[in-house]
Amino acid sequence: MSPRCKKIACIGAGYVGGPTMAMVALKCPDIEVVVVDINEVRIKAWNSEELPIYEPGLDDVVKAARGRNLFFSSDVKRHVGEADIVFVSVNTPTKTRGVGAGKAADLAYWEGAARMIASVSKTSKIVVEKSTVPVKTAEAIEKVLRRNCSDPAVQFEILSNPEFLAEGTAIEDLERPDRVLIGGKETPSGRSAVEVLKSVYEHWVPAERILTANLWSAELSKLTANAFLAQRISSINSISALCEATGADVGQVAHSIGTDSRIGGKFLNASVGFGGSCFQKDILNLVYICETLGLKQVADYWASVVSINDYQKQRFVERVIEAMFNTISGKKITVLGFAFKKDTGDTRETPALDVCQGLLQDNARLYIYDPKVTENQIHADLATPKFEWDHPGSRTPSRKQDSIKVLQDPYEAAQDSHALCVLTEWDEFKKYDYERIYDSMMKPAFVFDGRNILDHERLRKIGFIVYALGKPLDPFIQKPYS
Ligand code: UDX
Ligand code: UDX
Ligand code: ADP
Repeated sequence: MSPRCKKIACIGAGYVGGPTMAMVALKCPDIEVVVVDINEVRIKAWNSEELPIYEPGLDDVVKAARGRNLFFSSDVKRHVGEADIVFVSVNTPTKTRGVGAGKAADLAYWEGAARMIASVSKTSKIVVEKSTVPVKTAEAIEKVLRRNCSDPAVQFEILSNPEFLAEGTAIEDLERPDRVLIGGKETPSGRSAVEVLKSVYEHWVPAERILTANLWSAELSKLTANAFLAQRISSINSISALCEATGADVGQVAHSIGTDSRIGGKFLNASVGFGGSCFQKDILNLVYICETLGLKQVADYWASVVSINDYQKQRFVERVIEAMFNTISGKKITVLGFAFKKDTGDTRETPALDVCQGLLQDNARLYIYDPKVTENQIHADLATPKFEWDHPGSRTPSRKQDSIKVLQDPYEAAQDSHALCVLTEWDEFKKYDYERIYDSMMKPAFVFDGRNILDHERLRKIGFIVYALGKPLDPFIQKPYS
């Protein structure tokens, strides 16, 4: 094992691998960092002026290091073969078929990467799990690596180094992380591998923020962190339903409880539901692990976080339909925001998708605007069945395609519409000329704010009927008995 790291290869040039390695290269000019991917189109984009992902600040970081000590390549085998440390940051989607479908993580990409590492390794390597994996994956990967490498002198040391960055703030999170977590085996070679990886992060992360743990704790910490974060959102979202039923205001409740230092004020924004590639996937994975270990009550507890999230999206759709006189059939509804959160063009597990599907189910016509998500992406997402394992191989466009229009201009999207639904918290939505929008809409004109970002009083003064999540209901929307 090389005591010092001279070359890093990262398998997987995605949302995690790309930005993380760009930051490592920026901060460690003495290390050559090569990000490799089998997807040549992606690699080409990383080498171009238009990066394949949108992330504030990423362009500058890539520009500063690319060509110096940061490289993107599809020559996977060569660079992995030459590296001292190999990060594995491939996709680990939820299985869509077979045992554990809908819950278990699909480790096919991971295993493929491990077999490839073994086949090209002529020198010992540290293999780092970067993508979130089920607990004990390291054990399985180690077996694959050991049994597939023909040279007995080559040693592999596996580390778990989960990434905690959030999309939209990736560069900030990478530059000043709350912590870096490195899990390794409690053996002399395990400890020395941890030290090598630690020395990479110490180029810019203060030593006290670099935590070490055993392999299993590190793997489990990542799943638990995401489960806890998602649980906070489901908790406040469940209270938002209670607020609407009682006349309390979820913003006030969140603020009051957040001032308790034991609870803390962050991550308490009620919303139309959480999305993103991690939360649901990781919780389902946690649930699956608990079920396989016979921990039914634990599995049920975490499964309820996902149930509340589904309930919240469904509840929003029902509010829209009820408020608009129990029919949205043929009505034009403007959807503001399709990304799963602001400052990203990512739509994976976006709540907007379920809400749009729900509205289309009741025959609404949707005019969708998002500042960063492409038209093709929106159409592709809406054409994909929610549970692909229910319709194996089916990606055929649904009948609803004619009812969906994607616009490049929010004012055009709102023209002649009956309602606006805010589904992503983009800052620009706060700055629109709502008088102009109101004048161009059908009356009564509704706003359904699924992110609570607009100035509701002002909108009411203009003439809108406003539904704001978890806030006292507008008398126009209230049912006679509520
Ligand atoms: C998350 C974790 O935050 C990150 O640490 C992990 O590495 C990956 O998963 P990400 O999915 O990129 O990151 O975004 P995050 O900011 O956590 O938001 C997830 C979802 O929760 C979004 O849909 C967001 O809109 C929603 N959310 C977040 C709320 O609804 N309310 C909140 O208060 C916070
Ligand atoms: C609680 C609230 O903390 C307080 O704000 C409220 O006004 C009344 O209820 P209390 O019941 O006196 O106060 O004690 P607390 O310290 O909250 O502990 C409650 C229980 O949780 C105890 O049994 C304690 O042992 C347990 N606990 C607390 C844990 O098991 N783990 C923890 O991390 C914290
Ligand atoms: P994440 O959000 O975890 O970064 P992404 O899906 O954005 O996940 O990126 C994962 C990347 O890993 C994809 O670009 C995919 O092509 C790549 N990948 C998967 N398997 C391999 C492999 N065996 N070798 C190289 N790249 C791979």
